[in-house]
Amino acid sequence: MKNISIIILAAGNGTRMKSPKSKVLHTLSGRSMISHIIEKSLQISDDISVVLGYQFDEVSQAINSEFSSINIARQDIKSYPGTAGAVMAARPKFDKTLIICADMPLVKVEELRSIAQANSDITIATFESKDPFGYGRVIKDGNQVVKIVEQKDATPAQKDINLCNAGAYCFNTDLLKSILPQINNQNASNEYYLTDAIEIAIKDGKSVGSVLVDEQNFMGINDKLALSKAEILMQNEIKSNLMKNGIIIRLPDSVFIDSRAKFEGECEIESGCVIKGDCLIKNSIIKSGSVVEYSTIIDSDIGPMAHLRPKSYINSTHIGNFVELKNANLDGVKAGHLSYLGDCQINEGTNVGCGTITCNYDGKSKNKTIIGKNVFIGSDTQLIAPLNIADDTIIAAGSSVTKDSQKGDLIIARAKQSNKSGFFYKFFGIKDEK
Ligand code: UD1
Ligand code: MG
Repeated sequence: MKNISIIILAAGNGTRMKSPKSKVLHTLSGRSMISHIIEKSLQISDDISVVLGYQFDEVSQAINSEFSSINIARQDIKSYPGTAGAVMAARPKFDKTLIICADMPLVKVEELRSIAQANSDITIATFESKDPFGYGRVIKDGNQVVKIVEQKDATPAQKDINLCNAGAYCFNTDLLKSILPQINNQNASNEYYLTDAIEIAIKDGKSVGSVLVDEQNFMGINDKLALSKAEILMQNEIKSNLMKNGIIIRLPDSVFIDSRAKFEGECEIESGCVIKGDCLIKNSIIKSGSVVEYSTIIDSDIGPMAHLRPKSYINSTHIGNFVELKNANLDGVKAGHLSYLGDCQINEGTNVGCGTITCNYDGKSKNKTIIGKNVFIGSDTQLIAPLNIADDTIIAAGSSVTKDSQKGDLIIARAKQSNKSGFFYKFFGIKDEK
């Protein structure tokens, strides 16, 4: 079923979000609301238009960086504010058009499909809510939907109605085009409401049907409190699916997992971990309090309290506590404690001593450290990049290494120690008790 057009409404300025950023760029489980809704729409339509207005450049750039083949339309928000004004900007090409708000990222593809498959001239999605405040109320005459009244325009009696407009509509496209010019802005917000299309269609003898949908899945995210509630719901779903598919998650409420993260094989995520971005984690354990961002971990263990920053790739490697990696490729390595390994490649059999630092930044540019196989890096070593350490090198503890090594070298780069006999007693003026 792809012969349906979809219009995603995303032009509003999201005033209730109280944010300098467009509402639809706020993220849930690591991805923006607009990305979630586009990804779902792509599963049912080949003709998707996103209507933008507020922060047009930022939002269109975000869409284009992730998706191709999305039509981006610009709402004339000054002349035609409101959800109907947004729809006016789109040019749907199929006979049926599904219109959805961009601020409902929890919606399920199957639910959208069922709205799209209904046969009336207009079908609206509705849900019953114990707390309908903010939603448009669906007014019925018997079983027949007759109109939608917005919160701001509702009479006290209408505010008591629990049946809400979920914000998803399927229109016969020709009918939509003929109704849009009839919608006016005579309401509390002086906006052109798409919801007014219902009353106009009914008066014109058209059929308007409704489908009941799940309130939680259609939750409209208008402020940051709703954003946090939606985040919990989406996280619960992501983690439940992972656990059902064989991933161990200890105390899942304390763990955050990005919707793009992938897991394979036997993996365990301990409490308090954060997995951000499109990570791949395979046959590995991530111990308590670790943060992994946009990285790949295969046959390895990391943490507790390790930080893998973006573009780290580790294979058959042990990363212990308080170790930070960034753009680091480690294969068959042990880095047990307190180290910073950035912009580096470290090869099989190498042991990274406690307190090792790749000094990758010289104040102007980032430089690379390459460390060969079976290198023993003594504790408290600074590797001043760019640097190339050959296989089978031993670096003495406390070294500041600035020069490359040859295979088999011992590097010692630290001040020579000298011991002054009896200095303590002279310095403090005490008698030597020896
Ligand atoms: C809207 C519905 C309401 C419904 C609710 C469901 C209208 C008038 N009201 O209210 O009946 O119960 O969604 O969540 O449709 N937008 C534009 N251009 C605009 C204004 C808004 O594109 O000029 C977009 C927004 O970016 C947003 C969507 O339309 O993605 C809905 O707008 P929003 O302000 O969230 O409407 P609600 O008050 O939630
Ligand atoms: Mg909304």
